[in-house]
Amino acid sequence: MCGIVGYIGTKQAAPIILDGLSKLEYRGYDSAGMAIYDGGKINITKSVGRLKVLENLTHGGETMPGICGIGHTRWATHGVPSDTNAHPHFNADETITVVHNGIIENYLHLRQMLSDKGYKFVSETDTEVLAHLLDYYYKGNPMEAVTKVLHRVEGSYALGILFADCPDQIFAARKDSPLVVGQNGDGCFIASDVPAILKYTRKVYYVDNQEVVRLRADHMHFYSVDEEEMTKEPVTIEWDANAAEKAGYEHFMLKEMYEQPKTVTDTLLPRIKGRDIVIEELNMSDEELNAINKIHIVACGSAYHAGVTGKYVIEGLARIPVEVDLASEFRYRNPILEEGAMVIVISQSGETADTLAALRESKARGFKVLGIVNVVGSSIAREADNVMYTWAGPEIAVATTKAYSAQLVALYLLAMKFGRARGKIDDKTFASLLGDLKRLPNQIEMLLNNKLKIQKFANRYIGAKDVFFIGRGIDYAISLEGSLKLKEISYIHSEAYAAGELKHGTISLIEEGTLVAAVSTQPDLYAKTISNMVEVKARGAFVLAVTCEENKEIEKAADYVIYIPETNPYFTNSLAIIPLQLFGYYVAVGKGCDVDKPRNLAKSVTVE
Ligand code: G6P
Repeated sequence: MCGIVGYIGTKQAAPIILDGLSKLEYRGYDSAGMAIYDGGKINITKSVGRLKVLENLTHGGETMPGICGIGHTRWATHGVPSDTNAHPHFNADETITVVHNGIIENYLHLRQMLSDKGYKFVSETDTEVLAHLLDYYYKGNPMEAVTKVLHRVEGSYALGILFADCPDQIFAARKDSPLVVGQNGDGCFIASDVPAILKYTRKVYYVDNQEVVRLRADHMHFYSVDEEEMTKEPVTIEWDANAAEKAGYEHFMLKEMYEQPKTVTDTLLPRIKGRDIVIEELNMSDEELNAINKIHIVACGSAYHAGVTGKYVIEGLARIPVEVDLASEFRYRNPILEEGAMVIVISQSGETADTLAALRESKARGFKVLGIVNVVGSSIAREADNVMYTWAGPEIAVATTKAYSAQLVALYLLAMKFGRARGKIDDKTFASLLGDLKRLPNQIEMLLNNKLKIQKFANRYIGAKDVFFIGRGIDYAISLEGSLKLKEISYIHSEAYAAGELKHGTISLIEEGTLVAAVSTQPDLYAKTISNMVEVKARGAFVLAVTCEENKEIEKAADYVIYIPETNPYFTNSLAIIPLQLFGYYVAVGKGCDVDKPRNLAKSVTVE
């Protein structure tokens, strides 16, 4: 979603801000802008469209002199993408400017209040309210104005603010929208996400809810919303800065797909100790694990799809009932959480607003929450009682691949750990499962190396109107993710259906030549899925099957078959998803889509 970058120091600010914003492009946006203090006044340049437009308008920032500024990439919520609605926003006399991520929920009320006092609004955004409200409270003390505003607004925000009266300072504040600040020998930085400033500093401070930061060229001070000064500890970011670069790949998505063998290894290996699985972050004894009588998995998007697989694997291996919820539903449905239940939230970014709200809802009811999170230091990582990190490194493409694969194996580890503690997996089975887990990275690599075959097939479908994915059990979970990958980056309508459910409506959509991808990796369900394939074929569908090497029988019903290597049926998702990711990718590339930054989508959905 929206991105924020700010800089105050000894160097020209605009090129640094543009560079930082380019590292946040992956979050999804539709307009961009910068406000720079030039020594006399604040100048704003902003435009709808890609960052390239802003770069061209300012000659890479050169035409905006000044050593203090804030920049923004906007993902429209209130008001269409337009030059006027783009951030930064000014007060009337252009002495205060603000960039904002999040949503001001009481903006209509505040807008009315300010309009009644004579303030004129030029944009449709909720953010402009902040600029005028700051103006309303500003009586010569910027900190006082900022904190008064924070006391008035409801909703979520990460803010960067400049006052022309105090050009040696930037103010930053945050509530429920991520914000980091950092410093190096040349100056201080604010950013909504670490990659924006990783090139400049590895030592960052995570701003907490309702904290305010005053940044000067050579130091930063932290305050509570009541203006009490506080001390904060920096966190050193260990990521390799190159991890956020394309490294010769055409797209981040392709690079990240190729990183999956490593990601899976990095998530698995530290937790496999000899013949056992040790998940220290769980902080639970075997007795406590034994006492769990229900698991609630809550997540959004692909993380939810990983959770659906988790349900099958945990229920199968540990025999604990699992309920999987979309976080946006869970938080408002007054969920029944009973004693003995455990809540697991899954999130790549650790910032998804609905998932964070679900976590808070569970904690407020007295339940401990385990977070399966990728981004170290993110809000979910900090607020969860225990965190199991997926060591996928920075994921830049909007469509997740490697983080999803890491989430899957984290769930396998948990399922095995629970199953073992509860005496549901005997030694022989456990050893065999462990062997299969360890083989996954190589098998994923083998499948990736088969990309040309899939690219050829994908090229035949760049003109497709509808594609259906079907499967049963875990194969249904794989279908959900395969279908999402295709639709989100190629804009081809696609749906995933539990294969047995097809006949209850969706089969009426099958026409001559419609592509149906049938996922069939569960031996006990091979025959059932073949029946469903035959049904759609009889209605004209072209059937692509993704199945295990042993299932040659499927060739009688499929038009095209992709085989995955042998593994335990509980782990097939990790393999079957690879050709489906590649298929979605190559269809999108064939159509000329902006694969890494699909339209309307955001990497990290920080508003509900
Ligand atoms: C967005 C991303 C998806 C992701 C979902 C949940 O929609 O585009 O790739 O699965 O958010 O995000 P999270 O960071 O919580 O895993």
